[in-house]
Amino acid sequence: MSANQIKTVLITGGAGFIGSNFIHMLAEIRPDWNVVNLDALTYAGNLENLTEVEKNPGYTFVHGDICKPEDVKRALDAAGDPDQVGVVHMAAESHVDRSIAGGLPFVTTNVLGTQVLLDACRAAGITRFVHVSTDEVYGSLGDEGFFREDTPLAPNSPYSASKTGSDLLVRAAFHTHGFPACITRCSNNYGPYQFPEKLLPLIIGNAQEDKPLPIYGDGLYVRDWLYVRDHTEAILKVLEEGDAGEVYNIGGNNELPNLELVKAVLSELGKPESLITFVKDRPGHDRRYAIDANKIRMELGWEPRYTFADALPLTIRWYQSNGEWMDRLRSGEYREYYKLQYDG
Ligand code: NAD
Ligand code: TYD
Repeated sequence: MSANQIKTVLITGGAGFIGSNFIHMLAEIRPDWNVVNLDALTYAGNLENLTEVEKNPGYTFVHGDICKPEDVKRALDAAGDPDQVGVVHMAAESHVDRSIAGGLPFVTTNVLGTQVLLDACRAAGITRFVHVSTDEVYGSLGDEGFFREDTPLAPNSPYSASKTGSDLLVRAAFHTHGFPACITRCSNNYGPYQFPEKLLPLIIGNAQEDKPLPIYGDGLYVRDWLYVRDHTEAILKVLEEGDAGEVYNIGGNNELPNLELVKAVLSELGKPESLITFVKDRPGHDRRYAIDANKIRMELGWEPRYTFADALPLTIRWYQSNGEWMDRLRSGEYREYYKLQYDG
């Protein structure tokens, strides 16, 4: 597969956290590519994330749902010559706690929507498809070991189960039809434009206002944190150079227990640790995630460029200077969600 063929990227979910960061990155390092962004604008989709790029001549927004074949067709038509089109599939319901409250939207978008997208992209004959998945499909680790690409899939939440379903459909499309797809599985991301239901923006926002920081259980759950720009660069590598049918794990070798992460944020903000408040644990909470990213490092030459020590302050400064962005998201639907999730 020649990387040079790609002139247009069709992104699903480009108005979300990682999608908007991906589009910003393309505008910077692939300015001659066209970008078509298919997004349903759910509660997590926000066109405000894209104000800096929406006037670019090569950018097109298509408001649509990946579960609807006619919407996907509109996006593929907008993308043009399929020989030059690469698809990066990020649209998903993405929050574990919401999936515990109700799994149906997760099955609908993540499983059904992925199949609709696969069928339409295969019929159109696009040149390359990257399915953006998660390390959560592997389940939970004990104190030792790492997730490798051949680690058995053992998802524990409705979110991760629905992502696993989508991974298997992508795998089947490759094996059955020779569809040119790769799968990426990344660890937890942090950076600008993350919806404030997720741990890091939630605690930055609360700490700034001296509100309690809700920590589930004993706070010793471990995640492997990667700066979002490193993730988007890894996705681009896979899009341009990955082998069809392959899975690539992506991670930063940066394991932290939640409590340590929260304390690092408090120290950066100059806020007291007394804001930390232990709350009821998440049901079925995965204890530890850790990624072995040797395959993408060795085969595609990807390396993370940001250290946690550099990127955490960058991230915190971004939220500090984008208070109005945060305020707008935390009004409306989010307020209801927060009340239900944290005040019972
Ligand atoms: P997000 O929730 O911030 O954004 C999801 C986007 O998808 C939103 O813009 C939303 O409007 C859109 N969307 C949802 N349902 C849709 C539908 N039916 N049709 C079209 N658009 C729809 O998610 P994110 O954190 O940016 O994650 C992006 C992808 O990366 C997801 O597939 C997620 O599973 C994966 N991932 C996320 C992380 C992370 O730490 N955030 C880590 C690894 C993998
Ligand atoms: P989250 O950002 O939801 O990502 P994921 O569950 O996909 O890893 O949560 C990261 C970690 O932080 C996870 O162990 C759950 C924990 N957490 C809390 O302790 N309190 C919170 O309010 C949230 C949202 C998460």
